[in-house]
Amino acid sequence: MSHLTLVSNRLPIRINEEGEVERTTGGLASALAGAGIPGSFTWIGWGGVNEEDIEDREDYEKKLKAVGVKPVILETDEFDAYYEGYSNSTLWPMLHYMKDRARFDPEWMEGYRGVNQKFAEVVAKEADQDGEVWIHDYHLMLVPKMLRKLRPDLKIGFFLHTPWPSSEIIRALPERNEILEGLLGCDVIGFHTYNYLRHFRSCLLRILGIEGESEGLWHGDRMVRMGVYPIGHNSIGFQEAMQSDTYREALALHKKRLDGGKLILSVERLDYTKGVPEKLDAIREFLKKNPEQRSQVNFVIIAVPSRVGVEEYNLLAETVQREVGAINGDYGEVGHSPVQFLHRGFPMEELAAFYALAEVCMVTPIIDGMNLVAKEYIDCKRKKYDARAGVLILSEFAGAAQEMSHSLLINPHDTQGVVKAMEQALAMSEDEMWSRVRAMQDRLARNDAGAWARHFLGDLDASGTPEHDPA
Ligand code: UDP
Ligand code: G6P
Repeated sequence: MSHLTLVSNRLPIRINEEGEVERTTGGLASALAGAGIPGSFTWIGWGGVNEEDIEDREDYEKKLKAVGVKPVILETDEFDAYYEGYSNSTLWPMLHYMKDRARFDPEWMEGYRGVNQKFAEVVAKEADQDGEVWIHDYHLMLVPKMLRKLRPDLKIGFFLHTPWPSSEIIRALPERNEILEGLLGCDVIGFHTYNYLRHFRSCLLRILGIEGESEGLWHGDRMVRMGVYPIGHNSIGFQEAMQSDTYREALALHKKRLDGGKLILSVERLDYTKGVPEKLDAIREFLKKNPEQRSQVNFVIIAVPSRVGVEEYNLLAETVQREVGAINGDYGEVGHSPVQFLHRGFPMEELAAFYALAEVCMVTPIIDGMNLVAKEYIDCKRKKYDARAGVLILSEFAGAAQEMSHSLLINPHDTQGVVKAMEQALAMSEDEMWSRVRAMQDRLARNDAGAWARHFLGDLDASGTPEHDPA
């Protein structure tokens, strides 16, 4: 395999205020960090700070270089239009079927185009002759075409970490042609599920009039391959985390604090796609219906602040905090609040302790490309690390539902259905919990982040246009 260049907006690491390297949150970052990609590679991405906030650019670039990263440094104005604007106020809601939340502003697209061009230029400068480039996610959908123009020698792959929705949604996007054309600059385009790939194909047909097979299509004189690569979690990382002192200390501390009570956990970025208000509706209903359980249950909601510069996210945080307070006001008792809202991120070792202890994990997105939390929770159910038995309640609208049929699958809009699943989970025998966990664990460990990366990169390596067009 030739030298690889990885490209993503969010890097799996950042330099914090103390000048130290630390891990970032989100499925893309955590899976790529745990993918154990073989050989040497360069990572190109936005480092989490803008030009105006970098005191010493040389020192900043040097620190990142030492860990194999080349930052794309953006000015605040262009970042606002590209990231907060087009990527997260237009594309993110559209890709998640939430057309009503999407906002459109031609200046954002200008910013998106400009930053994609900047990324393409940095990659063109860094990538080895005849090398391979793997681009990630919706922030960078114009890069493949731009890069191919600058560097026709490269093999270019793209993986989308979100759903690809029905063509009915994408057709409403003013820049739909440009986005699709951008992606067709690839040799390989990957999706989490077959449904997303099928929708993408139908967009190509209905918007660009290009007909393709599910494995790929001819675009001019080039073959563009398409494939399904369900992302896995960082299984090795979590197993290592469970051997740490931090894990053992967190496990002991929380066990003591729970004092025999049940832990019903949820973990997510605070994002409107994750169904947090819908989950709170179900929690409220559960507490209303089951007064005898009120002092026994601890609903711990880990909600990592996300995209705080985007208004929708701030409104959501306010709504959620208000409702948590209201539920505790209605159903709390002296010395016990049934819902504990932790509005911050946790390192892997502490997260593993929460996963290990929780009798139930509630993953209830309205829609989610994959959802790695679901996979991590099941993988951390290891008796050898003193984990308790547990049940996963999982939204059927998460990509992960297709691989995790031994969870309790729910529709997050059906409050009564979610409450029933909560009651079923809390009444389930330990034997049944373990047998469900085991039924999912082998498959998850086999299909972890490393397997996902090897699968995609193997296909990228083998890609290329056959000598003769079979048509
Ligand atoms: N995560 C974390 N610390 C936290 C909460 C979450 O590191 O306090 C990680 C979690 O382990 C998972 C990722 O963030 O790997 C979330 O990925 P997921 O696919 O569930 O959702 P996304 O945030 O990508 O939409
Ligand atoms: C999702 C996206 C990723 C993104 C992550 C965190 O998983 O698919 O591209 O990195 O959310 O969001 P953020 O905006 O903080 O990078």
